[in-house]
Amino acid sequence: MTQSISITVIVNEKEFTRAVEPRMLLSDFLRHELGLTGTHVGCEHGVCGACTILFDGESMRSCLIFAVQADGHNIATVEGLAKDKDSLHPLQQSFWEAHGLQCGYCTPGILMTMIPFLKQNPNPTEDDIRHALSGNLCRCTGYQHIVDAVKLAAEKMK
Ligand code: FES
Ligand code: FES
Repeated sequence: MTQSISITVIVNEKEFTRAVEPRMLLSDFLRHELGLTGTHVGCEHGVCGACTILFDGESMRSCLIFAVQADGHNIATVEGLAKDKDSLHPLQQSFWEAHGLQCGYCTPGILMTMIPFLKQNPNPTEDDIRHALSGNLCRCTGYQHIVDAVKLAAEKMK
């Protein structure tokens, strides 16, 4: 039997210490150990972007990293975006207003990709947005409404 390793991570500004097997993926840790099921798992090999989270402020695919590698690091998931349950983050609000999702499976990953993108590019062109979205697969929307939602968010977040 594999020996568990104790890790301590900050997730959405709260500290968690857990014993995990070295082979456990960070995506599984967030979903199964912490119950943060907003981080979605699609392909589990780095292609679809559904599992994207922030790792020390940068977008990262949580299916491509082991939970033990997150020891001592700062993680944000989609659950940490809104300040409270009654108010959406401006990026979430924009997806709501511009109809940027259908089934919503890809949405958490897209939001967590767009957060640092908009921080670095507060005035993105449509091409910039499409380029930034190129690593996130959506099976439903045809992307136009997602692009519109990100444009709207850029306006709101100025
Ligand atoms: S589940 Fe991680 S990239 Fe698809
Ligand atoms: S909204 Fe369904 S996969 Fe993107």
